[in-house]
Amino acid sequence: MATEPQTAGSEQLERELAELLAVERFEPPREFREQALLKDPAIYAEAERDPLGFWSAQAEQLHWFRRWDRVLDDSDPPFYKWFTGGTINASYNCLDRHVEAGRGDRVAFHWRGEEGEERDITYAQLLADVQRLANALKALGIGKGDVVGIYVPMIPEVVVSMLACARIGAPHNVVFGGFSAEAVRERMEFSQAKALITVDGAARKGKTAPVKERVDEVMGDLETLEAIVVIRSKGTPCSMREGRDVYYDEIVAAADPDCPAEPLDAEHPLYILYTSGSTAKPKGILHTTGGYLTGVAATHRYVFDLKPDADTYWCAADVGWVTGHSYIVYGPLCNGATSVMWEGAPDYPDRGIWWALVERYGVSILYCAPTAIRACVKWGAEWPRRHDLSSLRLLGTVGEPINPKAWLWYHKVIGGGRCPIVDTWWQTETGAIMITPLPGITATKPGSATQPFPGVRAEVRDESTGQPMQEGQGLLVLTRPWPSMLRTLYREEERFVETYFARFGPETYLVGDAARVDKDGYVWVIGRIDDVVNVSGHRLSTAEVESAIVAHADVAEAAVIGQHDEDTGQAIVAFVTLQGELEGDDSVVEGIRATVAERIGKFARPKRIIWTDDLPKTRSGKIMRRLLRDIAEGRELGDVTTLRDPAVTAKLKERVAELQAAEG
Ligand code: WTA
Repeated sequence: MATEPQTAGSEQLERELAELLAVERFEPPREFREQALLKDPAIYAEAERDPLGFWSAQAEQLHWFRRWDRVLDDSDPPFYKWFTGGTINASYNCLDRHVEAGRGDRVAFHWRGEEGEERDITYAQLLADVQRLANALKALGIGKGDVVGIYVPMIPEVVVSMLACARIGAPHNVVFGGFSAEAVRERMEFSQAKALITVDGAARKGKTAPVKERVDEVMGDLETLEAIVVIRSKGTPCSMREGRDVYYDEIVAAADPDCPAEPLDAEHPLYILYTSGSTAKPKGILHTTGGYLTGVAATHRYVFDLKPDADTYWCAADVGWVTGHSYIVYGPLCNGATSVMWEGAPDYPDRGIWWALVERYGVSILYCAPTAIRACVKWGAEWPRRHDLSSLRLLGTVGEPINPKAWLWYHKVIGGGRCPIVDTWWQTETGAIMITPLPGITATKPGSATQPFPGVRAEVRDESTGQPMQEGQGLLVLTRPWPSMLRTLYREEERFVETYFARFGPETYLVGDAARVDKDGYVWVIGRIDDVVNVSGHRLSTAEVESAIVAHADVAEAAVIGQHDEDTGQAIVAFVTLQGELEGDDSVVEGIRATVAERIGKFARPKRIIWTDDLPKTRSGKIMRRLLRDIAEGRELGDVTTLRDPAVTAKLKERVAELQAAEG
């Protein structure tokens, strides 16, 4: 464990950053532009003239068993179909294609474990493992169309599991390892998963969390779930239920080594990924095969300027979020990239681990979340400065708005002032990056995701008139279908139409974010307009957290909001009313936090709990969260006359002021 480094030199850095704050635009460095895959801005006009031609040229870069008849079937919006008539397989594109072309020895992942273990996995090895697991899944009765849950941490088997499912046409449903077993159960139930792949235990900063044991506590009576496949990862003891549970290594060893990739319809479901919406019930985003792969491969290549022979790429997200699906697994593997895969947290064994990994593997492209950068800013520039980061040539961010100061720090301290930064805006729903700089073309402005990717059309609409705005703040929409768009919400078609297309009609996708467009047409994404909060880039719904809180026996009612937070972007604040005469104290706070951790996951625990006898409600009984947000942020309250009991807000304001004073 390294000691806390000295902070000498931090004043000079502060001065340099302050000077950079005055710079409005950062042009692509000449050296970068000269080598870039895309350097001619004409690509935008070309794609705009013929978007379908642009996307079909991208699709041609993939391997198809049968070519499509039609690029886009838009006869029934918002149910778009892409590359109809074509047949394709995602695992074939990620693996076989490279091995057949003689690139089997290329490393797909430099995997690094928490305790310093290293495994280099080549494309050929990955293909061999995937074929065996695919056969083993078939032997368990998993076939085309059967949903397979995957609840596995950042170990190579998670990629093998996803690709084995893709190989046989079984849509996977990955659940982020930070979610609780309860959340896994719920997602298995909603998707009627037939099997679940999980681990005995997972590494958590030097400790081991017993994963299978927790799964067993909640999964017992789920009838649709016929098999649980257990990866022996950490040797954590767990019990195995006869007739349901099998060990991964045993079924793989018994399986046939050859499993040809199944030719699947371009619109065959590749995966479901649950994400948070406005209600407590998560939404099952459904992605299909041909269009999704086209979108992720093209954006991965061009946004990251990927040269697969030379680059070492690292997306430091977790595979359990969409960023991991698209930019750890499908995009990079389709493009034959060599990636780094890190098992652990950014501060274990110490706060320099990321930079040690960049140096160790010669990472040239780094993609991470602003929340991680903010943490690094706080920990100090001394950590990265201990390492040679000269291999880096491009930096990316995703998941939340990046404040200019963190952007500049990333640019200066990590990128040495020579690396373009791509601030990429997109969503689980969009499948791939939608608004982003092209690093060899676009002049960047810190804090702006800049412009739609070629072929994508975005607009900012006036909130009251619904008209597109040339300049100003409004609602972000996407006004043209794109290949990697979600196809529906799994088993909730009406909710799909209602959520995204009720406001502006079936041809205009409502993003759910507010954004500003500036005089140069640059887009600045501000944040969600719905009841979704973004904590460290993790998407959560306030309703989901509220229903977890009220599950605590002492709680009568709860309202949750996202409050601006310097570290995590937003933090969860809960206003809680207890049953009867109960008084809130530290033990109730801990109890509530534990309940939330159990029902959703630790990352969803409220940072602050504010006790209240009542909540501000309209006369019809609806909780006015807007007022709660104003109260928490210390803003002037607008009109409160529509409230059932206006005195409630005054009391709450007092309470919040007291708390803030106490917290200093
Ligand atoms: C937010 C993550 C500002 C946004 C890929 C969006 C961003 C939500 C950015 C989707 C960005 C993502 N700048 N905000 N570059 N990228 N967001 O589904 O609010 O987990 O709607 O997908 O994250 O989160 P999701």
